[in-house]
Amino acid sequence: MKLIGTGSAIPSKVVTNAMLSEFLDTGDEWIIPRTGIESRHVITNETVEDLGADACRKALDMAGLRPEEIDFFICSNVVNEYITPSLSCIIAEKLGLTCPCIDINCACPGFIYAMEIAETHFLAGKVRNVLIVSAEEPTRMTDWADRSTCVLFGDGAGAAVFTKGDNLKGIRLNARPDSSKIWQKRTLMPTPYVTKEESDVPLQMRGKEVFKFAVGASTTEVEALLKEVGLTKSDVSYYMVHQANLRIIDAIKKYLDEPDSKFPVNIRDHGNSSSASCAILLDECNRAGLFKSGDILVFSAFGAGLLSAAAVLEW
Ligand code: COA
Repeated sequence: MKLIGTGSAIPSKVVTNAMLSEFLDTGDEWIIPRTGIESRHVITNETVEDLGADACRKALDMAGLRPEEIDFFICSNVVNEYITPSLSCIIAEKLGLTCPCIDINCACPGFIYAMEIAETHFLAGKVRNVLIVSAEEPTRMTDWADRSTCVLFGDGAGAAVFTKGDNLKGIRLNARPDSSKIWQKRTLMPTPYVTKEESDVPLQMRGKEVFKFAVGASTTEVEALLKEVGLTKSDVSYYMVHQANLRIIDAIKKYLDEPDSKFPVNIRDHGNSSSASCAILLDECNRAGLFKSGDILVFSAFGAGLLSAAAVLEW
């Protein structure tokens, strides 16, 4: 498949580290050296479905396609206010899409997982154009009294339109199932029959272990994927790495022994927007005119599951 359009949408409210220090024992001096985050966009009166629809409209505009020309719609999302219908159906209704649509919950690597599902449909000859959106509101998952998690996240949506082509050179998906490292639970409606204990638990994370998983998974998969598709690091123009933490990105950069200039970052003013992170970064770089024809982009993302994924895309 081939990428022909990108779009993104982010909430208008910007929350700086100094604003967090008004109600938490934290600030620039802890957050910046450990994460690189200076501010993040946080949902106030927006809905994640409106952000998702906005991002999709921009991507469709750039692709020059009408909603009825999309054959399959994939939405990557961890949480939103609706349990049913799916977020993809809600966004599809806003866009006037008429094609089948599905949600996937693959946490932060969701955009790459969605790319793999799209590519499979292209290879099966079932589609001409596929729309992907990653729409996320992780700021609604954390306990805002827990300084170790709430400072890390920001909200937003990123979208991409793919058509037939051979620009996607390869993808690797990986799972190391372990629900003890990053998890959150919510209660469902009570019934007269439920006897087990249930509770609402905000996002929990074992930060140091997740950090190690992220660096290990990313570097291993990037190296393996490049080998699989017959490329070397010198062929890579840009690494589009999940914007979870600048220190994670720095560690990956150091391990791969690649220069700063190959790692575009937007974490400073976005924080970690889960699966929307790679999609928003892609759109921002694209609209800034960073990529030229023939550039090799390597995507890498990791997160809850534990899941990780990498992809190689020729521009
Ligand atoms: N402000 C000030 N202090 C904070 C803080 C904050 N926002 N958050 C935590 N602390 C404190 C803790 O209470 C703890 O204090 P203690 O030692 O007195 O108990 C201390 O800082 C822990 O610091 P440190 O050990 O240096 O933390 P760290 O180096 O592990 O960094 C993370 C924490 C979360 C930044 C880091 O583990 C990380 O980035 N992990 C990966 C997280 C991630 O990206 N997850 C998403 C992947 S998709």
